[in-house]
Amino acid sequence: MIYYKTAEEIELLRQSNMLVARTHGEIANIIGPGISTKKLDQIAEEFIKDNGGIPGFLGYQGYPNTLCISVNSTVVHGIPSEYLLKEGDIVSVDCGVLMNKYYGDSAYTYMIGEVDPEIKKLLEVTKAALYKGIEKAIEGNRLGDISYAVQNHCESHGYSVVREMVGHGVGRKLHEKPEVPNYGKRGNGLVLKKGLVLAIEPMINMGKKEIFQANDGWTIRTKDGKPSAHFEHTIAVDHGKADILSSFEFVEEVLKNK
Ligand code: MF3
Ligand code: CO
Repeated sequence: MIYYKTAEEIELLRQSNMLVARTHGEIANIIGPGISTKKLDQIAEEFIKDNGGIPGFLGYQGYPNTLCISVNSTVVHGIPSEYLLKEGDIVSVDCGVLMNKYYGDSAYTYMIGEVDPEIKKLLEVTKAALYKGIEKAIEGNRLGDISYAVQNHCESHGYSVVREMVGHGVGRKLHEKPEVPNYGKRGNGLVLKKGLVLAIEPMINMGKKEIFQANDGWTIRTKDGKPSAHFEHTIAVDHGKADILSSFEFVEEVLKNK
């Protein structure tokens, strides 16, 4: 069952996603060499609760934390730990919020200090691919148009697209139908209609596309040990232009002054 949202529901989804966006702003302020990923998680949990939200991932299918924090060759679903971030790391921070019965979901991959230019490029291309996908999230297009746009952009730069993990619908549940793969064919799949709310989240590997799940039952890593990047926005399909409900503006405002 696909739930199309009313204008009122979209405003509630925007509020949840704006709290996610502001949480990312808090993370951006403190992330850097020497901080543990657990500390970032504590800050996010506190900030969300102080602002009237409920951490969306905490307890979700038994997930133990507020954030998923995925360093270097970890693709997604990394569990916060005592690990201290260090110069040169890349760190996907994925954050979810539940507020007024609706979810927000957005991820950003941060660089710690100076990062190898080749890895920096992977991040730039992955973020650009997210926006390429969002450009296609308009009424009358098809789901495959989004998927293809993401895949084509990343593969044209020689990167590979993770297959097993996908984006998703967002609403009263964190994961709703439809699935939003980051690979596919133009003109295929569901016809997009106004009111469809999607999390588009490319997970892009510098090396091969293969991944594995660690023994903790969550952490997803690249098989070849090469870096992976992840950016995610929650958007609402609309006429002519997608409505981006989450935002990187808080993060990027902080990062540009860092
Ligand atoms: N954005 C991630 C996803 O959509 C976050 C889910 S992590 C979980 O898969 F811990 F909540 F499962
Ligand atoms: Co998601």
